[in-house]
Amino acid sequence: MSGHRTRHCRHRTHGRRPDMPPHPEAPPSVRPPLTIVPATPAHAAALAVLHEACFAGQPWHRPWRTTEMGQVLALPGAMGWIALAPPDPGATVSDGIATDHPVGMLLVQTSGLDADILTLGVRPDRWRRRGIARTVLAHGEDVLRRHGVERIFLEVALDNRAAVAFYTNAGYNVLGRRSGYYSTISGETFDAATMGRTLV
Ligand SMILES: CC(C)(COP(=O)(O)OP(=O)(O)OC[C@H]1O[C@@H](n2cnc3c(N)ncnc32)[C@H](O)[C@@H]1OP(=O)(O)O)[C@@H](O)C(=O)NCCC(=O)NCCS
Repeated sequence: MSGHRTRHCRHRTHGRRPDMPPHPEAPPSVRPPLTIVPATPAHAAALAVLHEACFAGQPWHRPWRTTEMGQVLALPGAMGWIALAPPDPGATVSDGIATDHPVGMLLVQTSGLDADILTLGVRPDRWRRRGIARTVLAHGEDVLRRHGVERIFLEVALDNRAAVAFYTNAGYNVLGRRSGYYSTISGETFDAATMGRTLV
């Protein structure tokens, strides 16, 4: 995601509507039950670990360490949400205690009527294509709408086909192209698309 230009609600979402009891023969939902919690500076270390897991392997990735993540969360207008999920049935629980753990995140920075997505990611191991990014983004958009935000923007590497497809599916349009927006330590550069959508 981009470099650093860089309340309280607790919301549980489930794969099926809460008013619909599961049919005894229904197959297990592939969508995990998620708890979305607001991100605070106290989450900096956990978010740094999650960010590394989400972006490792992308050539334009630069780690956001705990200190850096704390600075991002302390930016004026910074807001964020973390998606917590219980371990999948059958998953090994190292300490014998099955607690919800972070599997996805969204960090934004608001400025008046606008918000920029600073980062969005979902753990790659077992958690992608299960609607987690869609859920956390929709949750963040709802909160931003209630704060009076009317437009959301982001930059995404054009080579990041999954993310471009994700944002397109979520209603974002390509607004422009930024040449060489991302660069690696060795100097290789990658173009980015600026994408955005209106919330009202
Ligand atoms: C992009 C990313 C956040 C998507 O997270 P996710 O939880 O797997 O996405 P969802 O399951 O909510 O996908 C919603 C829709 O987006 C689209 N989509 C998501 N991943 C896709 C992929 N790899 N290829 C094509 N379309 C994709 C699909 O339309 C999908 O709906 P479907 O699964 O019903 O077909 C995830 O791949 C990721 O963390 N990537 C690394 C970090 C990153 O690049 N972040 C974005 C830049 S800031």
